[in-house]
Amino acid sequence: MATPVKVKLEADQTHYFCTCGKSTDGVLCDGSHKGTTYRPKLFTVDTTKEYSLCACKQSGNLPFCDGTHRKV
Ligand code: FES
Repeated sequence: MATPVKVKLEADQTHYFCTCGKSTDGVLCDGSHKGTTYRPKLFTVDTTKEYSLCACKQSGNLPFCDGTHRKV
């Protein structure tokens, strides 16, 4: 079971959510998707703070954890 990863994100900057699951931290793209059909999901946040990002990739509110990992 992939549990969420807490990451501090800066407001009003583009962040790249890993959709392939191969990145080192499992949540932010580090280019490991190269050679696959996956592409990172671009997103921003309104407030600079720590967020729980989805590592199981099943959240209904990607890139944020919504607790779905407890059911898969
Ligand atoms: S490393 Fe997973 S989408 Fe880029």
